[in-house]
Amino acid sequence: MTTVAVLGAKGRMGQEVIRAIQASGDLTLGATLDVGDPLEALVGHADVVVDFTHPDAVLDNLSFCVAHGLHFVAGTSGFDSAKLERVRTLLGSSPKANVIVAPNFSIGGLLMMHFAEVAAPFFESVEVIELHHPMKVDAPSGTAVNTAERIAAARANAGLGPVPDATTDDPDHARGATVEGIHVHAVRQRGLFANQQVLFGNEGEALTLTHNSFTRASYMPGVLAAVRAVGERPGLTVGIESLLGIG
Ligand SMILES: NC(=O)c1ccc[n+]([C@@H]2O[C@H](COP(=O)([O-])OP(=O)(O)OC[C@H]3O[C@@H](n4cnc5c(N)ncnc54)[C@H](O)[C@@H]3O)[C@@H](O)[C@H]2O)c1
Repeated sequence: MTTVAVLGAKGRMGQEVIRAIQASGDLTLGATLDVGDPLEALVGHADVVVDFTHPDAVLDNLSFCVAHGLHFVAGTSGFDSAKLERVRTLLGSSPKANVIVAPNFSIGGLLMMHFAEVAAPFFESVEVIELHHPMKVDAPSGTAVNTAERIAAARANAGLGPVPDATTDDPDHARGATVEGIHVHAVRQRGLFANQQVLFGNEGEALTLTHNSFTRASYMPGVLAAVRAVGERPGLTVGIESLLGIG
């Protein structure tokens, strides 16, 4: 049995992770910590630590865990290239621990991005629409930006030019945001959780990819896959696509 500790245990994701571990059958819950709890409580009570805390806290948590030989799965957002480099440095001096950092644990969401990348070279037009609950503070979502970037890269690799668009007059930005030339639209609607559509078009045909995430439970298969795999993945793994064989 792998023993798992949860950091951010009182948070929305932390609570869901605790439920998923308790229901897993092959994982044991060793410790649950939230802000103010001493990290020392992890030592001897965890093989793997899962972190859903705050971008300002996660690197200190990771540093402590790696220094104590505890494998670390980070779902907390905000891992830019500088933070990832810091993780590599930490792992260089503490090679006993492994780390997985995943900006998106939703398997459907990851597949949608992969399928969008596969389809991108075959269509002249493409737009991304992300639809979320109205309490979300940032727009467009990180997933939508990432999807648009990957579509733009796939188009560029295939030698496609800009998407056709004759708009010259759009004072209120009705055409949405533009991410590397790809239009991205954000909808905020009561009752929704996290959804995304990618609309592809050619003369005479359209292809729409839709992913709907209804609750935080949608992240749990990805989180548990990372928890089960991290002990076998030396060093730093970014994203869980390689664990799942996506792409
Ligand atoms: N990777 C993914 O698929 C994914 C999915 C959803 C959310 N997230 C990210 O996960 C993070 C948490 O999201 P949430 O919705 O659960 O937030 P939340 O605010 O509901 O929960 C965060 C919890 O962390 C606690 N916390 C803060 N600092 C801490 C520290 N130093 N030590 C221990 N606990 C601490 C808070 O008290 C809180 O209980 C965010 O960064 C969010 O963007 C990632």
